[in-house]
Amino acid sequence: MNILCIGAGYVGGPTMAVIADRCPDHRVTVVDINPERIAAWNSDTLPIYEPGLDEVVLRCRNRNLFYSTDIPRGIKEADVIFVSVNTPTKTFGAGAGKAADLQYLEKTARSIIEYAESDKIVVEKSTLPVRTAQALSRVLHSNSKNLHFQIVSNPEFLAEGTAIRDLENPDRVLIGGMSSPEGERAVDIVAGIYRRWVAPEKIITTNLWSSELTKLVSNALLAQRVSSVNSISALCEKTGADIDQVTAVAGRDSRIGAKFLKAGVGFGGSCFKKDILNLVYLCEFYGLPEVAAYWEQVVHINDYQAARFVRNMLAAMFNTLAEKKIALFGFAFKADTGDTRESPAIAIARQLIDEHARVTVCDPKALDNARKDLRDLSGKVEYTSDPYAAVEGAHAIALITDWKLFRDLDYARIYAAMEKPAFIFDGRNLLDGAKLHGIGFNFYPLGKPALTHF
Ligand SMILES: NC(=O)c1ccc[n+]([C@@H]2O[C@H](COP(=O)([O-])OP(=O)(O)OC[C@H]3O[C@@H](n4cnc5c(N)ncnc54)[C@H](O)[C@@H]3O)[C@@H](O)[C@H]2O)c1
Repeated sequence: MNILCIGAGYVGGPTMAVIADRCPDHRVTVVDINPERIAAWNSDTLPIYEPGLDEVVLRCRNRNLFYSTDIPRGIKEADVIFVSVNTPTKTFGAGAGKAADLQYLEKTARSIIEYAESDKIVVEKSTLPVRTAQALSRVLHSNSKNLHFQIVSNPEFLAEGTAIRDLENPDRVLIGGMSSPEGERAVDIVAGIYRRWVAPEKIITTNLWSSELTKLVSNALLAQRVSSVNSISALCEKTGADIDQVTAVAGRDSRIGAKFLKAGVGFGGSCFKKDILNLVYLCEFYGLPEVAAYWEQVVHINDYQAARFVRNMLAAMFNTLAEKKIALFGFAFKADTGDTRESPAIAIARQLIDEHARVTVCDPKALDNARKDLRDLSGKVEYTSDPYAAVEGAHAIALITDWKLFRDLDYARIYAAMEKPAFIFDGRNLLDGAKLHGIGFNFYPLGKPALTHF
């Protein structure tokens, strides 16, 4: 089979690499309108950092995996087209700030009808508002070539940082389709791709609308869990309770479950916020304002948590950060990725600059993206991948990303290089507070008592 993926981003690139790896007899092509991105996929330095990705791409590239800018040819030759273009939050017009911007999806559909010469299965891989498949079908069937397209929804559940592991061993694969014989056949063809390496009981088929909505709901539930724990971390700090103790015991209830209960400076990434806002917009659109307000609060708590983190720093450091050097440990929205989209580090760096602090950003993989995110602050922010250089003369460290390397540093050496009193604000509860306090640091974890020398 000829499989095409339109959109060579964080999803299209890795997903198609794993499909090519697991289905050596299928020819997989990934196309994009961005020539630099395609050139990077064809180079030794892939455009995204993802553990294990290089190996998979090297195994398959130019064997049965091709990255190309030739979109017309890709469409002509394809039997199945995965659409994995970006679907950001709209920044203009009706629904600005909440609704999904579907212009890239619609442009893709128009390219498909322009270049297709045969019937195709079109797979929604992007995360989309529920009932987008209906609009997509209408655009695709406006073609004058009498071509027929089956729309299938196959949302992606990979998490950045563990994308290859998630793709190779998914919790579930969801495929939604029309309940007609042609729809069922299309679902079976897409399921057949995954059946090569995913156990049949993990491949779940539903109707189109359930599939589209399930992706939004899955992200909303995950984000809600983060905001729930983060909101309680604020209460822990006021009462002397310890958030790690609270969640460890609460998570022992099998109905709650132990995973994804860690307090932090807030969720980031390209998806959680946009997908919740998309859900909020849909609820408002369908006349459900109470439901919309309920989910919107998840985003508010997330913003509150990052702002609260900076307010706590300010209060601990004698109510002034002016001229003080702050080393930001981590800028990626989570460990093991270079992605900084919606990273809480962005808001935190900006709030620190507003307080006239001097900020040095330290990250092993995300410095290029950090420079872009903060490009308007040039001159006010420094960048280094060396944590020891970052802390030279610093008054405080603010740990934002849970990179393992930050846990394993020589903190006695770091303490010696910093201004005194030296502060660490651990925004991920990653570090050994008692040990750091013993070295001499004033240590501020999230949602648990601070360890100070005052
Ligand atoms: N990043 C994640 O972790 C993740 C996880 C699950 C689902 N998703 C969803 O997957 C989709 C893609 O996300 P991403 O992170 O890969 O985005 P991305 O921005 O990294 O990649 C999208 C790519 O699509 C390309 N593109 C846009 N319009 C195009 C067109 N008309 N023709 C060809 N290429 C075009 C862009 O140039 C870009 O390279 C989104 O809907 C997102 O919500 C993302």
